Amino acid sequence: MKRLWLLLPILLILLRLTSAGQEISSTKGLKDYYGKYFPIGVAVSPYSIKDKQEAALILREFNSITPENAMKMGPIHPAEDRYNWRDADSIVAFAQANQIKVRGHNLCWHEQTPSWLFYDKQGNLVNKTVLLQRLKDHIFNVVGRYKGKIYAWDVVNEAIADDSTQFLRNSLWYKICGEDFIFKAFEYAHEADPNAILFYNDYNTERPEKRERVYRLLKKLKDAKVPVNGVGLQAHWSVYEPTQKDLITTIKRFASLGLKVQITELDMSVYPWEKNPRALRPNEQDTFTPDLEQKQADEYAMVFKVFRNYKDVISGVTFWNITDKHTWLDEYPVKGRKNYPLLFDQNMQRKKAYLRVVNF
Ligand code: GLA
Repeated sequence: MKRLWLLLPILLILLRLTSAGQEISSTKGLKDYYGKYFPIGVAVSPYSIKDKQEAALILREFNSITPENAMKMGPIHPAEDRYNWRDADSIVAFAQANQIKVRGHNLCWHEQTPSWLFYDKQGNLVNKTVLLQRLKDHIFNVVGRYKGKIYAWDVVNEAIADDSTQFLRNSLWYKICGEDFIFKAFEYAHEADPNAILFYNDYNTERPEKRERVYRLLKKLKDAKVPVNGVGLQAHWSVYEPTQKDLITTIKRFASLGLKVQITELDMSVYPWEKNPRALRPNEQDTFTPDLEQKQADEYAMVFKVFRNYKDVISGVTFWNITDKHTWLDEYPVKGRKNYPLLFDQNMQRKKAYLRVVNF
């Protein structure tokens, strides 16, 4: 009995450590805290997996990766008869060696397309038959190469128009094929790897008008028995949006179609997303103020709580880039403006938002 009393101070210290809610393990990572929920992924480049520090952070925190650019059609298929497998192969090999999942990104998009894709040798636009054949060859080669190694693919990316009065984006895919390119892309991908989980992926999916147009497309695909399994919410969010209500409505709306939902490109900009925000806010500073830090931690805490509550529908959450040292948001939409959208700071340390995400 006496001995037990001796243990009391130790027990009290342990209790304080856990209830303080701020201490975190140096070995456990996001993937461990979320082990009972869903895989936690991150977008990587071939350089990040070669960099010792970044690779160590990736392996400590994440159990899924998405190639940030290496599998997009432009980089991976630079000429009709030539593929550049090196970068994509290195990322898949890294995942295999470390037993982490890979999401493939992406098979059909209007951006980062190779220059040959829409044209014949004379420089004229190709017709629908030729373009669909090119799409099929591309999908068969890329999906086929990684069959069994890539568990999910973003098959079609961003096919909905930015103009809310329009439905589908007036891209060259659409101009040449009409909506058929979307249907076909899923059919080809399913044929190439029947076990891969196939996603339609888009941004601003929580904004009601965009959500309804994405829903309309997905409903059409489901009604036509097209093999689409899920919807990717890119989740390029900000400290100002989405609201909890919009996020929940979105998840439920897509789940009602029998689709899985994945968060595919999560980051939380510290600036609002309106066009040319610098011009609108001439005194804006690039500093990560305590106020922004707090807002960001609150927003991250809110969205992760929603994700946990909908774990039956949400089958993965992936961040877009690793730390605030490098993020695509430093270049977009305002070139050179520093942003701080991730859970790790510029010194690769866990931020306040990280603590809120893992302490639940
Ligand atoms: C979109 C694409 C991603 C990436 C980001 C910007 O969301 O789906 O592949 O290009 O834009 O980095």
